[in-house]
Amino acid sequence: MEISLKKEKKEIHDQDFYFLRDFIYDNCGIYFRLEKKYLIEDKILARMEELNIRTITDYIYFLKYSGSKEDEMNLLYDFITINETSFFRNEPQFIVLKDEILKEIVKKDENYKFGLKTIRVWSAGCSSGEEPYTISIILNDYFGSFNNADDKWFTEIIATDINQSVLNKAIKGIYSDYSLRSTDPKIIDKCFNKISPKEFEIKDIYKQSIKFKKMNLLDSKSLSILPCFDIIFCRNVLIYFDLNSKKKVLEKFYELLKPGGYLFLGHSESLHGITAAFKLVLFQKALAYKKE
Ligand SMILES: C[S@@+](CC[C@H](N)C(=O)[O-])C[C@H]1O[C@@H](n2cnc3c(N)ncnc32)[C@H](O)[C@@H]1O
Repeated sequence: MEISLKKEKKEIHDQDFYFLRDFIYDNCGIYFRLEKKYLIEDKILARMEELNIRTITDYIYFLKYSGSKEDEMNLLYDFITINETSFFRNEPQFIVLKDEILKEIVKKDENYKFGLKTIRVWSAGCSSGEEPYTISIILNDYFGSFNNADDKWFTEIIATDINQSVLNKAIKGIYSDYSLRSTDPKIIDKCFNKISPKEFEIKDIYKQSIKFKKMNLLDSKSLSILPCFDIIFCRNVLIYFDLNSKKKVLEKFYELLKPGGYLFLGHSESLHGITAAFKLVLFQKALAYKKE
């Protein structure tokens, strides 16, 4: 008789997975279909083993009530979020920002605040910072060329994400050449300090206008502290949400955008079938949604 020495593979049973999936959904809007169970199963089981927790019910109880609740939730967000990003991702949108939208905003009077002209941009779901730093590079380049003292613009970028680990990376501002794969070498030379052959640190000037903050897009209480924005970037984030969560977040974006403000979504995303509140604007190189 052959004795199998193969260890039995542990798994999360479907009923338990539904329970965990609902907990995740209620907390951050990310919705896992059963077919996607494999994406998180091993990580969750490994964490449960580390904690010596045997059932999903106990794991959820631990997430809700343990003394280290916040750290444990951060770890869960590490397991469940996809943080893929890069500098100048979907570049045509940044060309539209620079060539069309900034020009339009500069013409608006209501951007005066206490004698200063301000422009405020939100990178919602900013991951490890490549998106907000790209925006900062564009804004610095654009407004830095205004030499007249009367033309001084104050730029503010709020960059938020639910995942604390990626935010920590963003705050450090050190990137591999892979993150810069779509970036013009001239921009790399100008905006980064090379700290090793494959490591680049974003220069301080591009950090100054960015505030990084941990924020859950589904937590309307924490969103209520946000100011109004001229432009919101929320690219490749809503794809992980179900219709209901998308609607909730988009309602909030509408409320937080100034009239005339723009929303950018990811390359493959659209508001079709979700909301008709925004006007679709087709620029030559990319599209954006406008609050009229
Ligand atoms: C694929 S990345 C997109 C990064 C960047 N916007 C881009 O397009 O390159 C999606 C990010 O959304 C964040 N995210 C997912 N659910 C979130 C939520 N409920 N609140 C805030 N951020 C969330 C994830 O942590 C992740 O960093």
